[in-house]
Amino acid sequence: MRKQIINVALVAASLTLLSSCGFDPKTPGRVYMPDMTYSNALETYAPSVIVNEDGDSVSTRKPVAGTIPRGWIPADEKIRTNEAYLMSYMSKSYFTHAADKWQEEYDKAAASLKDPLEYTEENKAAGGKLYNTHCINCHGAAGNGQGNLVVLEDGSDGPYTAVPPDYKKRLPEIKDGNIFYSVSYGKGMMGGYGYSLNVTERWQVIHYIKSLAGIDGAATGAGAPKEEEKKDGAKAEAPKADAKKKG
Ligand code: HEC
Repeated sequence: MRKQIINVALVAASLTLLSSCGFDPKTPGRVYMPDMTYSNALETYAPSVIVNEDGDSVSTRKPVAGTIPRGWIPADEKIRTNEAYLMSYMSKSYFTHAADKWQEEYDKAAASLKDPLEYTEENKAAGGKLYNTHCINCHGAAGNGQGNLVVLEDGSDGPYTAVPPDYKKRLPEIKDGNIFYSVSYGKGMMGGYGYSLNVTERWQVIHYIKSLAGIDGAATGAGAPKEEEKKDGAKAEAPKADAKKKG
């Protein structure tokens, strides 16, 4: 008796399964889950069944208010008329920040990107604020790489496994463009800040870290070219030659 019940159940189950197969291979047969078979996927540019808040049924939506196009440069006179500023903005389109191109792009940044901001107290103060939000945990208040993720209060090793360089040592070795590249796209164990800080904010934070390194002001370090160098390329060599004689 029990066997018979099982047999009947098996036949019923196979009939149910078979009944879903139609003879026409182009039709799905019996549809158990119509919302999966006939999906309501929206096709780009095709009208949809949903009437949206604007009262139309177009499936492509307008960008939300305030959306800016990629590579957008603010309509700010100070930015649009400043070549160095424009270069910082446009650099995004030229750098892939791919790992295998790192050195090449780092060198290119050094050669092409110049600090567009004036050394003012406002810029430094704005940079200091950003530094305390984004950088201090690793680089430390003094910029010596001993932030509280690196060294704990009791002096033992913190959870962060890399030790950032002391700005006093590292920043004089590199150019402003290098610093901008590293801050924008990251370096080694440090992530990039190109997504969270805009161009002005990145340069402001660079002013601040240069002040921590004791090299703030356009004429110090390997960074921004001096005024006379900008006007006359030939003069650029003169101070170096003097320095050599002294040394
Ligand atoms: C999570 C920890 C961490 C944070 C946060 C961090 N850094 Fe770094 N930073 C590092 C480490 C580690 C290095 C060393 C990278 C290397 O040379 O491999 C470094 C290196 C640097 C350098 C030297 C780059 C070069 O080209 O040699 C600069 C400049 C710098 N950081 C600036 C910043 C600024 C500005 C911020 C905040 C906007 C910041 N860092 C936030 C960990 C951090």
